[in-house]
Amino acid sequence: MADKARGKGGLTRRDLLKGTFLLGGGLLVGTESLAQVIRGKPKANELAYLKLTARPMSFPILPGEATQTWSYEGTYLSGIAAPRAGYLGPILRVIRDAYLNVDFTNLLPEDTTVHWHGLDVPAIMDGHPIMAVPPGGKFNFAFRILNRAGTYWFHPHPHMRTAFQVAKGMAGVLIVEDPAEAGLNLPTGNRDRVYVIQDRSFDSQNQWAYSPGGAGGFLGTQVLVNGRVDLLEEVGTAVYRLRFLNGSNTRIYKLAWSNGMPMTVIASDQGLLAAPRSLPYVMLSPGERVEIWADFRNIPLGQVVSLQSQEFNPGWTGGSATLPQGYYCHMMDYRVTQVLQDTRTLPSILSKIETYRLEDATNKNNPRIIPLSRVGAQWLLNGATYGLHDILPNEIVPRGELQVWEFRNDIGMNIMAHPMHLHGSPFQILDRTTLPGFEQYYDTVKVGLIEEGWKDTFLIMPGQRVRILTKFANFTGRFLYHCHNLEHEDMGMMRNLDIV
Ligand code: C2O
Ligand code: CU
Ligand code: CU
Repeated sequence: MADKARGKGGLTRRDLLKGTFLLGGGLLVGTESLAQVIRGKPKANELAYLKLTARPMSFPILPGEATQTWSYEGTYLSGIAAPRAGYLGPILRVIRDAYLNVDFTNLLPEDTTVHWHGLDVPAIMDGHPIMAVPPGGKFNFAFRILNRAGTYWFHPHPHMRTAFQVAKGMAGVLIVEDPAEAGLNLPTGNRDRVYVIQDRSFDSQNQWAYSPGGAGGFLGTQVLVNGRVDLLEEVGTAVYRLRFLNGSNTRIYKLAWSNGMPMTVIASDQGLLAAPRSLPYVMLSPGERVEIWADFRNIPLGQVVSLQSQEFNPGWTGGSATLPQGYYCHMMDYRVTQVLQDTRTLPSILSKIETYRLEDATNKNNPRIIPLSRVGAQWLLNGATYGLHDILPNEIVPRGELQVWEFRNDIGMNIMAHPMHLHGSPFQILDRTTLPGFEQYYDTVKVGLIEEGWKDTFLIMPGQRVRILTKFANFTGRFLYHCHNLEHEDMGMMRNLDIV
């Protein structure tokens, strides 16, 4: 899978890794960007230093034989192993504005990269497939945490192998904290919990059964949370902050409580909303995060409340999965096992969000149109498939310019739901329209879509057009935008994006 081709600037991939970073087209993606990130000498307590290793491991998941995985292992400079959940990688917590230094080693038998999903980092630190680290190779990631407090994650991004590597177990969580959030008196410590949702299939020897699954993508036979098929969490009569990441390759969830409690959403991809939202269910497509204020104070001792994914109509799904897209599934249970005193109240204001306005966009009357389409079995984005070094004129965007982009999921046959994701700076959703004849899909999910706040991934339903407002504020260089259905991404539903 390694791409030995020479870049436009005549450099090999290995030259790029050694630190000569001048790409073709006059784009400085390396040392210049680094100069932007290292603004001053960090104080010792502002530097988080981590050793991160990608390597084959094995974990007991089902009774009997352990499952062979590829996983991330994280150790802090102090020699302390970062906490992990099963086969999933470390759960990192860093303070906003801190410097994160990650000494990465690839002990997998193939190329990989580490992408920091949702984090606004210099292009050279973004894990672009041209930065592939070969087997036995190392890369030092160093960047400042510029994002708001929130729940982010990291996963591989090698050329055409992202879906496979994530399916093997490669994913970790990175939580950013900041003083503003700490002032809100939200649940902390043991009442602030992280859950990674992934669907998987196993063979008769308890090993991963993975295949890319045609044009629809991979749909596993069962849903795992934090690497467990039957996760049961013990809680008290208190309020919990529950952070959910959909780390699945293809599956979209419609999260709801089994007892009809509202899903009280306090944060989405890029941290706290301006104000909480109480919804009957919340949608979570691959790559997205959501944080829930879960109030178990009125649940009787001993009672179980389950988290489930409700039925919805996703449109075309491309095949015959055992557990099809949009079907009901049970995810995990919470059992109330102790009486606690908790008098906290849900804040009515959570954060201040500067809202982008369409009238400030440089192209307000002329949105950049990005079609999602399909030719044969191949999904295209912006009318093209992915090439490591391809760039189209409308994929070159000036840094700092507010633009409106319109994604159109309304062309041709087999129109399906896609989670769209942009690397680099977060964006805001302006609006969405549903073309006549396509309401039956959107109607089954619309109450649970969080459109406000800062986003890096959003679900576009069949027959929809979604307009977003983007501004790549901080870094120039080569980034990506793509479908976060990882099989779609690998089959080319991804494009380069140059910020200049
Ligand atoms: Cu989480 Cu380019 O992806
Ligand atoms: Cu990303
Ligand atoms: Cu897709």
